[in-house]
Amino acid sequence: MTKTILCLPGDGIGPEVVAEATKLLDCLQQDAGLEVEVELGLVGGSAYDQHGTPLPDPTLDAARSADAILLGAVGGPKWEALPYAVRPERGLLALRSELGLFANLRPALTYHALADASSLKRELVTGLDLMIVRELTGGIYFGQPRGVRVGDGGEKEGFNTLVYRESEVRRIARVAFEIADQRGKKLCSVDKANVLESTELWREVVIETSRQFPAVALTHMYVDNAAMQLVRQPKQFDVIVTTNMFGDILSDAAAMVTGSIGMLPSASLDAGGKGMYEPIHGSAPDIAGQGVANPLATLLSVAMMLRYSFAQAATAGSVEQAVDSVLNDGLRTADIAAGGAVPVSTSEMGDAVVQAVRRLLAESPSMRQDTRG
Ligand code: IPM
Ligand code: MG
Repeated sequence: MTKTILCLPGDGIGPEVVAEATKLLDCLQQDAGLEVEVELGLVGGSAYDQHGTPLPDPTLDAARSADAILLGAVGGPKWEALPYAVRPERGLLALRSELGLFANLRPALTYHALADASSLKRELVTGLDLMIVRELTGGIYFGQPRGVRVGDGGEKEGFNTLVYRESEVRRIARVAFEIADQRGKKLCSVDKANVLESTELWREVVIETSRQFPAVALTHMYVDNAAMQLVRQPKQFDVIVTTNMFGDILSDAAAMVTGSIGMLPSASLDAGGKGMYEPIHGSAPDIAGQGVANPLATLLSVAMMLRYSFAQAATAGSVEQAVDSVLNDGLRTADIAAGGAVPVSTSEMGDAVVQAVRRLLAESPSMRQDTRG
């Protein structure tokens, strides 16, 4: 049955990287029997410019009815002075919340050819394969009350609320345990239970949930230590589960460990497996419109979509293998180019991946087997 993908290119380099994903989807339709219909929508600053809101109703409606969503990036200096309620980022947060996309999977993987692009020593990152499971619809990002008010003495004060309900912790913990169970069977829950009651409860609920997953070894780490351990010995981790804000911060750090933030895809899933897929990098306004952005995180996000929303693991594998092979061939966008190497453009990188996917699918029809029938 034909599935619908809603593409939301967004702002900055978003449209450039999503254009490469569209090429890949075309290729998969022709060569891998993928049956999808791709729709386009507006989100973020570009939506605000046309409709006065970062998440227009037609976009939200289309997102609700789509089988999967592919998002580029939102935000940029142009919209930074706007009131919070209509900032581009609000469009993204509202999408996550309205669609109930509570489970954010952010895999950080070092590609062999890129070990030298990491800011850490090669031996520390070679073979790194880490999955960060970030809670995405709760915590301080959404807690009430929030705002800026005039406090005692007439001074303005900004305030936010970090709140987690047991059920919210339980469902994200379950997702993380299930993932760990299928990988290295190690789960590290990151909190700040020595200071914050909300994460003291987080820890309790994670421990409770662990009883259903006896095969997974559970450890706990305070977030400050986790940040340090990520740059000290990243390979000690298999799966990390953490709160919305800690996950935001640690995933940027993990990205840099692998070489470039331009490499990391993500999946944001609801309870039924519907997902929104996006590169974890932002809109990178400083390089937008130049055709130099790295499209690999977005192409890898398409692979995650194939795996998690469309149950097409083999085709997903072919995309991931294609990325590996173009990197092994020496192709680099500017963010991952080592000194002296001539970087390729966004579209050259996208074309190379599409070609490699074509070649892999032709060589090994089994990569298409799960798309037949
Ligand atoms: C991310 C981003 C977003 C977040 C911003 C753009 C709202 O940093 O997806 O990591 O903080 O969640
Ligand atoms: Mg972030």
